[in-house]
Amino acid sequence: MSKYGQRRHCHVTHKRANMTSAAVQESNRNMPDMVLQSARSFDEIPGPRSYPVIGGLVHIFPGGQFHGMHPNDKQSLCQEMYGNIYKEVLVPGMEFVHIFDPVDIEKVFRGDQEFPVRQAFFTLDFYNRKYNKQQGLLTSQGENWHRIRKNVQQKMLRPKAVTAYLPEQTIVADELLEHVRKLKDDNSEVADLRPEFDKYAAECVGVVCFNKRLQAFDDDPDSEAANFIKAVDTIMYILSTKYTALHLEEMEKADDEADGEHGDLIPYLLSKTSLSQEDVLTVISEFIFAGVDTTSHHLSFMMYLLGKNPEVQEKLSEEIQANIPNKQQITSSILSKMSYLRAVTKETHRLLPVAPGNVRTSSQDLVLSGYHVPAGKNIVMHHTWIMLQDEHFKDALAFKPERWIRNNESHHNAHPFAMLPFGHGVRSCIGRRLAEQEAQIAIIKILQNFKVEYTGEPLQTVHSITVTPISKMRFRLTERYL
Ligand code: HEM
Repeated sequence: MSKYGQRRHCHVTHKRANMTSAAVQESNRNMPDMVLQSARSFDEIPGPRSYPVIGGLVHIFPGGQFHGMHPNDKQSLCQEMYGNIYKEVLVPGMEFVHIFDPVDIEKVFRGDQEFPVRQAFFTLDFYNRKYNKQQGLLTSQGENWHRIRKNVQQKMLRPKAVTAYLPEQTIVADELLEHVRKLKDDNSEVADLRPEFDKYAAECVGVVCFNKRLQAFDDDPDSEAANFIKAVDTIMYILSTKYTALHLEEMEKADDEADGEHGDLIPYLLSKTSLSQEDVLTVISEFIFAGVDTTSHHLSFMMYLLGKNPEVQEKLSEEIQANIPNKQQITSSILSKMSYLRAVTKETHRLLPVAPGNVRTSSQDLVLSGYHVPAGKNIVMHHTWIMLQDEHFKDALAFKPERWIRNNESHHNAHPFAMLPFGHGVRSCIGRRLAEQEAQIAIIKILQNFKVEYTGEPLQTVHSITVTPISKMRFRLTERYL
């Protein structure tokens, strides 16, 4: 079992890089000869032995050294055995370079070229091919990725566009609060808050994408929202296309006034960008796929850590009270003043990240940990491991938001690429501002009203596409009467 009693692993595709030999040669030319010559060869990178035909599968079969081991524990073991870089052939033709040093991670990201290649989300890629025949932001590469990204990102990343959703998100957070209040038992406990956060995240996505309230907090198990959440939980992608398609039908005559900032993202994308209806359908489906579970889990983790650390919770509650007296309307300028809230958010990403790591296909030749890694190799970056090492974050298993407060004596001195919860560069998470705003509003509302205590079983997580809490998350919520 890994530190924190969690089970984690990175999801990567099993596809080979599709770099042309011309591109590889071009990148070879960019590598200074001296650096390359002094590096050890790619073949010398250590790692589990690979055999003809079965590759490295022998290691995971019964009797193999990794048999029955959770992938995250396997990574810790491999780091111990091989150091900060190792290579692995799963089956012939599927080769991965694993890295554990932030200095190398920086080289990988800085080596990204105009269109960074991230071959991941292989299940989504599969469903796209099977049902939609269209790749979106998560799975497309090259010019196609760039065409979609440039059209969408100004409405997803521009601060003004994101804060335009604040009032609606606040209304949804108020509803979450009232709903949670109803769920409290005689002991002021709610048996499992996690599904309620799923509903909150689904409702918020509904507001942004469909300008539609899904009524997720209705208790009807057959309601549209309940089905929507079930869809997100199971084969999120396939069914979510249905909702997008319905909305597209409603919006057939795209509104000329659409600005993409008031729940009219779909008409905006249709009328003000060069994206086709099929592109828009894919992009919106991806937002549901990538935006519900991630934010809900992040919120669950933040609540868990606050519920287990009352002194941090009190400090945050004081900051909330000082900045938002009388529960006045939350605004972007108020949020920007709340440095402790931001620190709590970051510390949550460090201790309980939603994305277990990241992947890139190297765009150019690199020297990583002294070895030559040619362009076109699939590289897996293990942030989850790095973030829990004392070497990078002193007293790494402790929940200490102060380490993110500038000029605080506890401020961390970790490498800037040691923690990248939303990835890095032009291909980083497009929903990050929305996600953090959404989670922070919910936390503010909850702490304005309740003292929070985690009374559930020890937290267990598994890795599906995201790191997912699987234990029931029981909380005692005592009214604050502020
Ligand atoms: C706490 C919440 C979230 C976390 C931790 C998270 C994390 C990530 C990470 C690590 C990546 C890969 C970035 C890279 O390769 O450098 C990513 C990509 C992406 N995320 Fe998020 N995400 C979150 C919420 C969201 C939300 C709310 C949305 C949409 C509404 C979203 C949509 C996407 C999309 C579309 C991509 C692919 C971007 C591209 O390749 O151009 N994410 N996310």
